Amino acid sequence: MPTSNTTPSLRFLSLTALALAIAVSLPACRTPEELVINKRDQVFATGSSNKKTTHSSASYQSVDRGWNPSVSAPRGGTGNKLSYSRVSVSEPYVAMTFDDGPHPVYTPRLLDILKTRNIKATFYVVGTNAAAYPHILRRMIAEGHEIGNHTKSHAYLPKLSATGVRNEMGFTHRAIVQATGVPPKTMRPPYGASNSGLRTRIKQEFGYPSIMWAVDPQDWKRPGSQVVANRIVSATTKGAIILAHDIHAPTITAMPNALDRLLAKGYKFVTVTQLIALGEGGAE
Ligand code: NI
Repeated sequence: MPTSNTTPSLRFLSLTALALAIAVSLPACRTPEELVINKRDQVFATGSSNKKTTHSSASYQSVDRGWNPSVSAPRGGTGNKLSYSRVSVSEPYVAMTFDDGPHPVYTPRLLDILKTRNIKATFYVVGTNAAAYPHILRRMIAEGHEIGNHTKSHAYLPKLSATGVRNEMGFTHRAIVQATGVPPKTMRPPYGASNSGLRTRIKQEFGYPSIMWAVDPQDWKRPGSQVVANRIVSATTKGAIILAHDIHAPTITAMPNALDRLLAKGYKFVTVTQLIALGEGGAE
């Protein structure tokens, strides 16, 4: 029966051809951002012995990839204030914060960028995303980052009842604990929308200070990666809490450049509760 013999081999051949076609077309599926990051990381992975070549082949302003010093400041302290946008420190410490994730693709990519620089950041996660991607939260904790509460649904808190606020905060608190075993110590109000009554109640009920920011690159408006990086670098001063969002690809693309330029300027990255603990006179 010739037909029954040829059909399977034809199927095999066409499957092989399909697999080859997919393999060949995969690189074309990558976004330009991925290609920029990968090119840069490859360049810098082999760069130290050949720095001049490294500089000339970097795709944007060339800065050596820095290595953030490990800072042994205590974690988990929340200070005495209801709210912080910056902390008065004697050394050039800053805290990088990323809101609204985790994102299943962009956040792991960002974690890779942070890891190669020994930078510890703080992630203000949305509860529904935290519940959907608990493995990314576990990776954050395993790699020394801090996780804060950004409500369940990115809610505009001033419009909610006391019960509504409690539900929004409680859901995310539980999702973070369930995923990592580490309770969050700080929160960030979505849109920065809060008031003194809310801040007081959130501190009383959850122990969280409300964490605002001193540097806002407006990256959610997608002005372009280079603009995001420039805004972060030019606005950062010591003690600053820096805002960015790990749900936008151009923000992730901006990070190697922004972080390396800040490291080159001597800034040392710590988490939010470390920054609070490093405040002059300890927790302020
Ligand atoms: Ni947000």
